[in-house]
Amino acid sequence: MPLELTLADGGNPEESLVAAATDARTRAQARYSNFKVGAALLTAEGAIISGCNIENATYGLTLCAERVALVKALSEGRTSFTSIAVVADTEAPTPPCGPCRQLLWEYCGDIDVILANLERTTATLRLSALLPMPFDGRLLE
Ligand code: THU
Repeated sequence: MPLELTLADGGNPEESLVAAATDARTRAQARYSNFKVGAALLTAEGAIISGCNIENATYGLTLCAERVALVKALSEGRTSFTSIAVVADTEAPTPPCGPCRQLLWEYCGDIDVILANLERTTATLRLSALLPMPFDGRLLE
């Protein structure tokens, strides 16, 4: 599996992103919660960087799928993003947790957030709808 995928020409970006997040989910390390999550970020250049949740025995050091995708992307020099897909096996949409919303906001801005389960997209919204009135670096200037 390559570290990064590129959007197929003529393909549907949302479908590709959800497919990448679904694939990443299969590599989730979720032996404590058994709740597997996959995420995939789309960069402005059309690259897809995915992540899965990674748990450990202390529980508290758990890394969410969204954060894994984000730190992978940033550490590879990707700094401009247009959307993220999050996939979990739930009937209702599984949205990013609070800390992930904060980090996504700071590093990605007001991106599209596509929430899907294993069959279909369950919700599509902007990050600003998930994190109204954010605290961010503008307040520190
Ligand atoms: N989790 C994610 O990876 N992303 C989310 O959006 C929600 C929660 C993970 C963290 C933990 O490994 C498991 O799901 C249960 O909370």
